[in-house]
Amino acid sequence: MILTPSMTGIASPDPLQHAFKVKSAPHAGRSGSRPVFLEPQQWHQWWQQPSQATERALYIHIPFCRKRCTFCNFFENGTNPERISRYIKNLTQQLHIAADTPLAQSRGFNTVYVGGGTPTDISSDEVKQLGEAISRFPLVDNAEVTLEGRLNGFDDDKWHNATANGFNRFSFGVQSFDTQVRQAAGRFDDKDFLLNRLQQLSQHPSASIVIDLIFGLPGQTLDVWQQDLQAVIDSGVHGVDLYQLIGLSGTRIEHAREKGKILGTALSEFQADSQTRAKMYASGANHFEAQNWQRLSSCHWRRDSRERSVYNSLAKSGIEILPFGAGAGGSIHGHGCMNGRDLKKWHQAHDEVTSPNELIANDSIATEPMANAPVQVPGMLMSPNPSASLDAIFKRGLDGGKLNLSLLPSAMALHLSPLFSAWQNNGLAELVQDQLTLTLAGRFWNVNMQTGLFEFLAENPLTSETSSQQTHSVHAIAS
Ligand SMILES: C[S@@+](CC[C@H](N)C(=O)[O-])C[C@H]1O[C@@H](n2cnc3c(N)ncnc32)[C@H](O)[C@@H]1O
Ligand code: SF4
Repeated sequence: MILTPSMTGIASPDPLQHAFKVKSAPHAGRSGSRPVFLEPQQWHQWWQQPSQATERALYIHIPFCRKRCTFCNFFENGTNPERISRYIKNLTQQLHIAADTPLAQSRGFNTVYVGGGTPTDISSDEVKQLGEAISRFPLVDNAEVTLEGRLNGFDDDKWHNATANGFNRFSFGVQSFDTQVRQAAGRFDDKDFLLNRLQQLSQHPSASIVIDLIFGLPGQTLDVWQQDLQAVIDSGVHGVDLYQLIGLSGTRIEHAREKGKILGTALSEFQADSQTRAKMYASGANHFEAQNWQRLSSCHWRRDSRERSVYNSLAKSGIEILPFGAGAGGSIHGHGCMNGRDLKKWHQAHDEVTSPNELIANDSIATEPMANAPVQVPGMLMSPNPSASLDAIFKRGLDGGKLNLSLLPSAMALHLSPLFSAWQNNGLAELVQDQLTLTLAGRFWNVNMQTGLFEFLAENPLTSETSSQQTHSVHAIAS
């Protein structure tokens, strides 16, 4: 059996700071999938088949930003009103077609996420059009419908149009409240503006307002971080995500780091190392839990039950997610899919099937039956992941801080027991009967643990042979 420190972490008197060296990746994953090609006719058929999913979501991507922030590599296209309006026109058209298909109508949608980029940068009227298009899908009662973005430019008109047209959750990237740290990161507003606006929006009688904070930004000292945490409470929001800064390639922070520089503030050139970030995570968790906020995942806390985080928790369970827009990812009939990011090609695919000349010139393209499916845009499709349901149990459990081993096939739980024991010995988890509960250190390192678990299974696959050997050894121990 192969068991390495990248799977188990290392033994240390302070596992929070030292169990692993650095966060391995933003998310963990494995895939036994391979790319597949789907003929247009098959794509069309997909949309005529009812869904087999029990829970599902829509993901709609808005790939525009007004500014490239120093830490982020989600920037895809600069904001420009004509460009956005052309995109929204094609996007809503596809949503209208998709909403009428048997696939969409066969079952309710639990949650919708409009993410980016910066969806709040679209105009107020476009927010309304998007809300109307979403409402054509069969949403379950009390479905969560999130609009992501930033507070800058999200004026009263947009806010009213959004809440009047079905959006009931708003996820704003704040990153840090500290004016100097924000400016250094390329953000627009100062602390007072953010606090005032969040306090106003959080007064809404039912909408959930959540914000993202990053810890580890240049210039963000431990002292600044404490003030950030207090500002979350003062802002009145209903939920918060605390993300550790990941050194994403192509970002200005990474370029500077490669040259040995830090893009700090006039007051501070400080940038937290991995150990200090661990302390920042712990102080964040303690801060919110001391105020009776509830932890919904390793990085998300809520003030009260208005905030549910349905999309984020279901997305980790590998549910069906119908993706729309350039750069959107999802899963249809068990096939992972990722629409290409290239806006030009995305529009081309759309224009090809909707151009009246094409329809007349070639009646094999987009004739009546093909119209009953959204446009097949360029991108990647994968064969179904054979271990999808198992992976969902691992991901949801480890991300939520509790892995219920009785949900696993017993041979798998037994097979993983050396890894679980190592995690326990290294202060990352506690194993009591069928429950593996992550410690604070485990929650901080949970993505490394998920990656380690998938690595363990890749190195030590559970074959029918190993499974029967284990059964024998269990019987031997029992007798
Ligand atoms: C796709 S971004 C959209 C946010 C929105 N456009 C904004 O300007 O706030 C979603 C979130 O990803 C997080 N994020 C982006 N880059 C990150 C990084 N390098 N490390 C950790 N989190 C990051 C930020 O907290 C951000 O709010
Ligand atoms: S944080 Fe938001 S606005 Fe900034 S580059 Fe990333 S997606 Fe765009």
